[in-house]
Amino acid sequence: MSVPILTFFNNKGGVGKTSLIYHLAWMYASLRKRVVAIDLDPQANLTAAFLDEDRIEAIWDNQSSGSTIFHCIKPLTGVGDIVEPVLQKITSDPYLIPGDVDLSGFEEAVSNEWPNSMGDNNLYRPMRILSSFWQVMQMGSEKIQADIILVDIGPNLGAINRSALIATDYVVIPLGADLFSLQGLKNLGPTLGSWKKLWQKRLDNWHTSPEAKSYPNFKLPDGKMEPIGYLCQQHGVRLDRPVKAYDKWVNRIPGIYREYVRKEPPDHTMKQQNDPYCLLTVKHYRSLVPMSQEHRKPIFNLTSADGAIGSHANAVQDAKKDFKALAKKIADKIGMAL
Ligand SMILES: Nc1ncnc2c1ncn2[C@@H]1O[C@H](COP(=O)(O)OP(=O)(O)O)[C@@H](O)[C@H]1O
Ligand SMILES: [Mg+2]
Repeated sequence: MSVPILTFFNNKGGVGKTSLIYHLAWMYASLRKRVVAIDLDPQANLTAAFLDEDRIEAIWDNQSSGSTIFHCIKPLTGVGDIVEPVLQKITSDPYLIPGDVDLSGFEEAVSNEWPNSMGDNNLYRPMRILSSFWQVMQMGSEKIQADIILVDIGPNLGAINRSALIATDYVVIPLGADLFSLQGLKNLGPTLGSWKKLWQKRLDNWHTSPEAKSYPNFKLPDGKMEPIGYLCQQHGVRLDRPVKAYDKWVNRIPGIYREYVRKEPPDHTMKQQNDPYCLLTVKHYRSLVPMSQEHRKPIFNLTSADGAIGSHANAVQDAKKDFKALAKKIADKIGMAL
């Protein structure tokens, strides 16, 4: 059985993906789930959230195999095979497969193998490269018998992200309340649908090829990519912008999500606060954000010793409630017992 993979996806940056994955990883760990987080964004922001710079430098300097996601898959671009990842333990839990700025160098390989994987022969290598993120994630999760894998990716629709999505079972879409997020949402649904279809074709092509019989133990991801809901960020809201402008965009999200992502009839009367597809409205955490970054812990674990006193302490408790609720909703949707 493969471990379920959840990816936060939006081709728009700055909608809180990295920060949400970071907090959700900690929340699941505190709910006694075994979590592997993986950083597939070459910007490596998730890695920077979990690990201090000295530790990241040591990992990046250590060219030994498996130290970052890139070092796990790099041998594939030569004559080698995937290398098992070294998992970084973050105190007790969760675990991290570190990102790597060099990962952008893999874009070309995944891009080139996409058409090759639809050929008549020599399919093993392209299929191995296209599924390499999934292979590494499953190898890493097996080591610790993980319950869930959380994936952070960069804000684009490129070949690396296509491979990340092929590996994905469940997709959550974080959104800002603005025109750009809504426009992005209109692209996301069809993109997911098309990647899913194109990956199915490749799976069929592989399974009906004579070559498949030579690799009986070669497992491939299903490419399920099921959208389970969206999150709406309040922090992107410009403070000088009237509340009405925020409402205007927020109120359009449920309709657009249904139409473009779920392919359901748009329901223009559905309000975001009642929408079952809205998993959470993410509050603006203000000064708790730099505090959490400085102490390298999730907002909901900040204490008075970290500076979370007075109204901050209340905000910390609110954040804990919100992220626990989010973790439960997602667990429900993917059938994971807590
Ligand atoms: N709930 C929040 N409240 C306040 N600031 C936030 C919140 N979530 C994210 N941020 C800040 O917004 C910026 C973008 O967030 P990030 O998680 O990096 O987004 P993405 O990964 O989508 O680019 C970061 O500086 C982050 O610290
Ligand atoms: Mg990010």
